[in-house]
Amino acid sequence: MTGKVRILLIAVATLVISGVAITKWLDFRQARDIGVINDMLAAADVKKGREIAHECEVCHGLEAGAVNRIGPNLFGIVGAKIARDPAFEYSYALRQKQGTWTIDHLDEWLKNPASFVPENKMIFSGLLDPQDRMDLIAYLMTLK
Ligand code: HEC
Repeated sequence: MTGKVRILLIAVATLVISGVAITKWLDFRQARDIGVINDMLAAADVKKGREIAHECEVCHGLEAGAVNRIGPNLFGIVGAKIARDPAFEYSYALRQKQGTWTIDHLDEWLKNPASFVPENKMIFSGLLDPQDRMDLIAYLMTLK
């Protein structure tokens, strides 16, 4: 084996090993984040979530069959497809967003809508307190 080939092999091996390590670390971080969210959700206060939801009712109906207001109806939103209602005129940005309203996605959206979906049209600055978001999401989960 020439010196050059050996150096190349070592470089490739180093890259592969660090790639695996980074992936493992990211998996671990994600698992840890989801664990934290689950713990917070378990400790959430649905009653407090109901109170926080009054802020949303300025724009959103929360009961089954409520008409869309400035924002779409949120009954049954947890686990639903993002931009699910063909009768509501969503922003282009939200319509392009793939996936469902998982607890994670709702948490990010409610923390900062503009960062989760840039150029969306929900004018809401966000709930900064993570426990407030969990209380609210726990309440939204009861709307089904
Ligand atoms: C000032 C009005 C306003 C307020 C207040 C508001 N929203 Fe919205 N919301 C909207 C609008 C408008 C949209 C549609 C956004 C788009 O199409 O980009 C929306 C979209 C959403 C969606 C996506 C629904 C879907 O069908 O995919 C969720 C979830 C949501 N809002 C949750 C909330 C919650 C929870 C609160 C309270 C903390 C809240 N919003 C407060 C106006 C508002």
